[in-house]
Amino acid sequence: MKIFDKTDGIKLLTADLKSVSMAPYGYLSPDNTAYVADFHKSMPFYEPTPLVSLSALAKKLGVKGIYVKDESKRFASFGLGAFKGMGGIFAVGQVICRHIGLDPQKADFELLTSPEVREKTKDMVFITTTDGNHGRGVAWAAHQYGCRSYVYMPKGSAPSRVQAIKNVGAEECIVTELNYDDTVKLTERIARENGYFLVQDTAWEGYEEVPQLIVQGYTTVGQEALDGLESVGAAPTHVFLQAGVGSFAGSIMGYYAQKLKNRPEFIVVEPSEVACFFHSAEVDDGEPHGVLSAENTMMAGLNCGVPSIGVWPVIRDLASAYIACDDDVTVEGMNLYAHPTEGDEAIVSGESAAVGLGLVNRIMGRESLTEVRKALGLDENSVILLFSTEGMTDPENYRRVVK
Ligand SMILES: Cc1ncc(COP(=O)(O)O)c(C=O)c1O
Repeated sequence: MKIFDKTDGIKLLTADLKSVSMAPYGYLSPDNTAYVADFHKSMPFYEPTPLVSLSALAKKLGVKGIYVKDESKRFASFGLGAFKGMGGIFAVGQVICRHIGLDPQKADFELLTSPEVREKTKDMVFITTTDGNHGRGVAWAAHQYGCRSYVYMPKGSAPSRVQAIKNVGAEECIVTELNYDDTVKLTERIARENGYFLVQDTAWEGYEEVPQLIVQGYTTVGQEALDGLESVGAAPTHVFLQAGVGSFAGSIMGYYAQKLKNRPEFIVVEPSEVACFFHSAEVDDGEPHGVLSAENTMMAGLNCGVPSIGVWPVIRDLASAYIACDDDVTVEGMNLYAHPTEGDEAIVSGESAAVGLGLVNRIMGRESLTEVRKALGLDENSVILLFSTEGMTDPENYRRVVK
């Protein structure tokens, strides 16, 4: 392991990768996730999101390619605009199957939304904690299946995010006086006391099945990106994955590690204030470690101080580097997406989505980050894959920081 001093808002840790057996990640293998993509495709409104090539920027920065999966377009007509709905719609559907005794690998969207099934599920209530996008996805999913949902948010959540969750069908969206991790504990207790179905995107001891379904649900996003790359004859050498509780990063890593012949470098990106994967890698005892922070980051979706134990082993074994970033890195990314290099397409990219591009722009463009660039092996042969995981999910802040 090597840690590079913080420079220009960026702190890097490179990990010593050990050779690992893929067995513990079997649930993310192409065979075990094929039915996930089939399920998503069974939704009449499903469409893959675009993979955008920022070729002018790649040329300017001296890399072979920069490809961006644009999740602002995900279920945008429903008011979602983030990848999270892919996990929510799949996991809620799977919970319904288990509850009423349908074969989870065979039930498609048409069956799950049929009048006979709705009659059996109309009293099911789903509950979750969110800092925005996950709750929006779960509320929307529950609504699609004709069920109710309650969504809880940590203190300080943006009113626009609360409204957006109500708009997609949540019965109630409640902002607590607690931080994210304590709000999760609260919803767990409410679910237990009321017989509600907890659909949380983070796992802890004794609560692992549903988070695993959510992680599986994200693999379709990963496959769509590979389809897009394949259509232009490209293969990624570096995949930057932003992490909150790590479910998204773990999903893509676990899936790609088993799907791709040449495994790319996986780089986990977190806000400096709550870099729990960075911290866990630094402690390096094989266990996940949470961080406590009084500071707030603008990257609301990544503002989680405790790694999900479900994906921790995947990330521990497969990530080659961890980067903690200050907020100004994502602001740089948001602006670069909004005002791209001439010839490139503009993308609306939110606070938790744009950090990867801000990073790449800084690492490739600043002399002061030469050592970081070298340590990551970024050069003219690099094909970089980024996931712009949300669009303008906090319009007020977006307008404030994107000039
Ligand atoms: C836009 C966005 N990107 C990335 C993430 C990180 O996902 P995870 O919490 O699974 O690590 C989130 C989580 O809320 C998010 O909303």
